[in-house]
Amino acid sequence: MSTSSSLNGKRIVLGVGGGIAAYKSIELLRRLVDSGAFVSPVLTQSSLKFVGETTFSALGSEPARTSLWDSGDPIPHTRLGQQADVIVVSPATADLIARYAAGIADDLLTTTLVATSAPVVMVAAMHTEMWQHPSVEDNIATLRRRGVIVIEPETGRLAGGDIGVGRLATIERVVATIEGLFIKSNKSGSLSGKKVLVTAGGTREAIDPVRYIGNRSSGKQGIAFAEQAANFGAEVTLVSTVPAAAGRGVEVIEVESAQEMFDAVSALAGETDLVVMAAAVADFRSKIISPTKIKKNNGAPQIVLEPTPDILAYLGSVKPKNQVLVGFAAETGDPEAEARRKLKAKNADFVVANNVLEHDAGFAVDTNRVTLVFGDSQVTLALADKRDIASKVLSFVAEWAFKNGVWSE
Ligand code: CTP
Repeated sequence: MSTSSSLNGKRIVLGVGGGIAAYKSIELLRRLVDSGAFVSPVLTQSSLKFVGETTFSALGSEPARTSLWDSGDPIPHTRLGQQADVIVVSPATADLIARYAAGIADDLLTTTLVATSAPVVMVAAMHTEMWQHPSVEDNIATLRRRGVIVIEPETGRLAGGDIGVGRLATIERVVATIEGLFIKSNKSGSLSGKKVLVTAGGTREAIDPVRYIGNRSSGKQGIAFAEQAANFGAEVTLVSTVPAAAGRGVEVIEVESAQEMFDAVSALAGETDLVVMAAAVADFRSKIISPTKIKKNNGAPQIVLEPTPDILAYLGSVKPKNQVLVGFAAETGDPEAEARRKLKAKNADFVVANNVLEHDAGFAVDTNRVTLVFGDSQVTLALADKRDIASKVLSFVAEWAFKNGVWSE
């Protein structure tokens, strides 16, 4: 994106825990420094079994610290804690999470955590059994209640060849979450206190009890929007045609047809600060739904179609002045021109355009390449993970909404 990172000039303490994912914090350190942040690495003793101090000193903005006692400064933890704009712990092991939840302060990282009022981001990574242990779950709940941002691990290959949940989140996701904290000077998160409504998935329009008219939307991009909006502190309702996990800050309403989606969305929209219409809503449905299965021996059926309600256009027609409306344009032709047409026709504030014929963008793949069309401008984002696209679009939209007075502080 052409805008510079919101991390430029920010002071970040990067705490590294003792887990195999410690090696990934080297890349995280690089990315944070590249974003213009001043990064102070703090390594726990057990992290040194996995990674070397020299690497972090070479890449950090100042030499890495490994102990409360090894610098000339008698109180490094209070200085680090007081000066930090954010403290990021990656990987946050079960042990670090437990000690932080209990308020234990017996090394440089835990003392710094207890001595700060800056936002704290814990990037959890551990074995599946540990992540699912009730003590870890309780500790995570305690930290979240205190406002700590916990980035949950993803599913994938773990140390020792196991496969399961526990793998450190992608660096893109971690950086996007940290960037989200600084989109405006509000330390508690860019969408903190905002109500966000997201739709996801393709609608299914019944023909008879077994058949429907559908489309290829996987719902991945919409679900990524809901998750990232929650990471940015929003209260999110996800209206989805595909099953999605409710989680911290995300309530899920499952629907099937365009009409059901319209009913759910229109009931909530008046109270919403941001609507993201990522769903692929069918434009037409069968005028008559057969109550019984249509049989072959009666010959080819005549299916007469009628239009479905256009949800985005309806929302545009009743949009309150403090609401931001984001639509999508999944196209096979000229995405930007079509997006601009839909922006005007449906009175949206933004339309996210993409070409679904590209092999690495659009339906069912994990990556996307989009152009954000708004007013008379447009911004093209590079190919990225759908979560990363969601973060970037949300950051951009939030910044625009504050700058243009649609949202107040
Ligand atoms: N949309 C909607 N309700 C519909 C159809 C579309 O809310 N019945 C929304 C989609 O969620 C998306 C935007 O409108 O955010 C554009 O959808 P798209 O299918 O690309 O546009 P259409 O209006 O159907 O236009 P066209 O068929 O000309 O592409």
